[in-house]
Amino acid sequence: DADSMKERYEDSFDIGAAVELYQLEGVHGEILKRHYNSLVAENVMKPLYIQPEEGVFYWDDADQIADFARENDMTLRYHTLIWHNQVPDWFFEDENGEPMVDETDPDKRAENKEVLLERIETHVKTVVDRYKDVVDAWDVVNEVIDDGEPNDEGLRESPLYQIAGKDYIRTAFEAAREAGGEDAKLFINDYNTEINPKRDNLYSLVEDLLDEGVPIDGFGHQAHIQLDWPTLNEIEESIEMFAGLGLDTHITELDVSLYGWPPEPAYESYDAIPDEEFERQADRYNALFNLYERHDDDISNVTFWGIADDHTWLDDRAEEYNDGVGKDAPFVFDTDFNTKPAFDAIMDAY
Ligand code: XIL
Repeated sequence: DADSMKERYEDSFDIGAAVELYQLEGVHGEILKRHYNSLVAENVMKPLYIQPEEGVFYWDDADQIADFARENDMTLRYHTLIWHNQVPDWFFEDENGEPMVDETDPDKRAENKEVLLERIETHVKTVVDRYKDVVDAWDVVNEVIDDGEPNDEGLRESPLYQIAGKDYIRTAFEAAREAGGEDAKLFINDYNTEINPKRDNLYSLVEDLLDEGVPIDGFGHQAHIQLDWPTLNEIEESIEMFAGLGLDTHITELDVSLYGWPPEPAYESYDAIPDEEFERQADRYNALFNLYERHDDDISNVTFWGIADDHTWLDDRAEEYNDGVGKDAPFVFDTDFNTKPAFDAIMDAY
């Protein structure tokens, strides 16, 4: 019998975790080495941190994560080459420091588009070149489509889209392919991939991009989910749909929140969470990993968006909606790094 998550699932898929730098050491680091064989940076590989000023690349933090993956023989997911969030302002500013999005003059507009596509190309190629020896999968673009009804081309109205149109996606993927070669696994990543109309809109978009020859190898389901949302059926259908396009499937940001949306009311502290909630969460994780394992021909990586309940981005969201007080508990290790019922549920899933 396996006693670590990575051994339990070694015949099925890699088990990953998102990390901040400080988590490479101490008790987090120990759990990482024992239970996970894949790594992703929670923040420090995003454009905001990597290229804070045009042409000025900051590698120190990202390098530490890459080194940890190399030293411990873990696969590394790169998150994320291009995104409309956590991107420096200069990315969308013209030479006068004015935002490029508001441009109405067609000539200026064309020029802005060209400038942005060049920036994307430079950013992507520079990063891919540096880490291609260790990165197994690249989130090339993240969250390109909205939850509601999308615009005519099916895309989110971000500055990326407003300045460069759909071409920004092609440029990003082609640059990644050119720098990374055929071995680079190139992903499109998104959240709420189970929920319509977003699911079907995303599907049509990816189908079109593939038809147009955009080099996409994989589809990332973020999987920021709740105790009983989405339904297992919805999760399974979505995995099958995107895998049916011939793409590799990664679960890229898994966490199981105790709350609905918005997360209110939220528990004030970890101790206030009743045991029944952890039992419900264990059932959820059991069903989920059972499903993932049944689809292990398609799924090659399942990554949690954190390690233990002491550190989760969901706390910020719970606090935001509950006057600064709120605790979530989405993972399989508790705030003292002990295993939760959800851990046993994953180890025993059948
Ligand atoms: C989040 C991080 O977890 C936070 O620390 C940060 O403040 C904001 O970004 N979807 C994504 C991730 O693709 O990059 C986000 O990560 C969570 C939602």
